[in-house]
Amino acid sequence: MIILGINETSHDASASLIKDGKILFAGHAERYSKEKNDWYINDNLIKDVLQYGRPDYIAYYEKPMLKASRLLLRGGAGDWKPRFDLSGVPRKSFKHHYSHAAAGYYTSKFDDAVIVVLDAIGEYNTSTIWVGEDNNIKLKHKENYPFSFGLFYSAFTKLIGLMPNQEEYIMMGMAAYGDWKKYYKKVDNYFPNYHTQSYNFHRGIRDWGLITEQDKFDIAAAVQAVYTTRMMEFMRMAKLITGKKNLVFMGGCALNSSANTSLWKIYDSVWIMPNPGDAGSSLGAAAALYGKHLDWQSPYLGHDLGGEYPVDKIMEGIRKDKIVAVATGRAEYGPRALGNRSILADPRDPLIKDKVNLIKQRELFRPFAPVVMEEYADQWFDMKFTSPYMQYTVKCLQPDKIPSVVHADGTSRVQTLNKQQHPGLWEVLNRFYKETGVPILLNTSLNIKGQPLLNDIIDVERWESYYNFKIYSGVNIAWNNILKLW
Ligand SMILES: [Fe+2]
Repeated sequence: MIILGINETSHDASASLIKDGKILFAGHAERYSKEKNDWYINDNLIKDVLQYGRPDYIAYYEKPMLKASRLLLRGGAGDWKPRFDLSGVPRKSFKHHYSHAAAGYYTSKFDDAVIVVLDAIGEYNTSTIWVGEDNNIKLKHKENYPFSFGLFYSAFTKLIGLMPNQEEYIMMGMAAYGDWKKYYKKVDNYFPNYHTQSYNFHRGIRDWGLITEQDKFDIAAAVQAVYTTRMMEFMRMAKLITGKKNLVFMGGCALNSSANTSLWKIYDSVWIMPNPGDAGSSLGAAAALYGKHLDWQSPYLGHDLGGEYPVDKIMEGIRKDKIVAVATGRAEYGPRALGNRSILADPRDPLIKDKVNLIKQRELFRPFAPVVMEEYADQWFDMKFTSPYMQYTVKCLQPDKIPSVVHADGTSRVQTLNKQQHPGLWEVLNRFYKETGVPILLNTSLNIKGQPLLNDIIDVERWESYYNFKIYSGVNIAWNNILKLW
């Protein structure tokens, strides 16, 4: 049975296709339309996904009429119907938080787990706790709108001049530069415990008066501290009421890599699907309809550029210019570039961080993440778990040796990599390690700030002409003319 999962009409539309538990495709609408956080799926995405098979069923990630009842006063909501010549295919919709829970549980290795979903808002639910046992998912606890971890975080994102629902990750990065104590009490008053908020954050936060540049960093630090405290209270409660030792964490809040690290203090094992936000819910809806565990192998599930991993070219570029760009194979499903649509660079050079920020037209304070060979991860970072999808921020143990991938507070958002997860990128790291003694490269997404990751050959060619770099072999790029930029 082939199931097409769809998520659209809110932010981060996506489509996924599964067949008898195998994930054939999962991709984001924004990569095709080039419109960041695109609300709708488009012809090119549908064309791409249908190459892998015609669906017998369509699974939709929300209950449209239930959501419509909440949106009634604001108008504009209605039933969802498939377009793209799929109108005859039978369809079923699932609740927003159930789709999140299914995306997490059915891609995990756990038969037995607690599933926590924290996001801005689904239909009404904003924070839910489920139990996953023997392929069944049952609701144990819920909090409804307007109480919301996600809306809390987004409202402060907006307060400090960033884009809510999109730039929360920038605020998280800014937290490392702020004094969390300065505004902690004031922020804490809005969210005094894990089930109480004194404010409807959907309306935005007002009456803070003039906010200076330094205030923005201090507020970011306080919000991150309050969020982490409340999230951990919620997670302890989830453990208490379910008695489970394995955690599946989903929803947009699960993208908060700084807070996520604390989860390992209270759970034996943690699984966060690499696309835990709404963009992951097309796969969640498909999994919910299938109702059993999926065969999760890797996040390389999107558009296929083909080609072999250009290991030699990457090494050549890194030796010569210290920075290369790679676009090859299947695109990553999720917000992180994990080697197939990546800029890779030598982390030992302290100037590399600024250079890559310039290329990507990002704020200079923004940190970069390291990809490290899994076998050496604990020598370089304070971690007793693996982080194959860059979901945890941990203390760097040798910051002087890799200054370009260490944040102001001495931490790094680590991607651990073993040979099975990505043989090509592992080989690049292995060669770099043999040459330098450092089993680590800087790894960041191949895009410009605010734009989606490069996806297809058209994007590759556009970048090629814009930056005047060469495509070395077929559609693989290992770009080493990047230094022309400065
Ligand atoms: Fe959500």
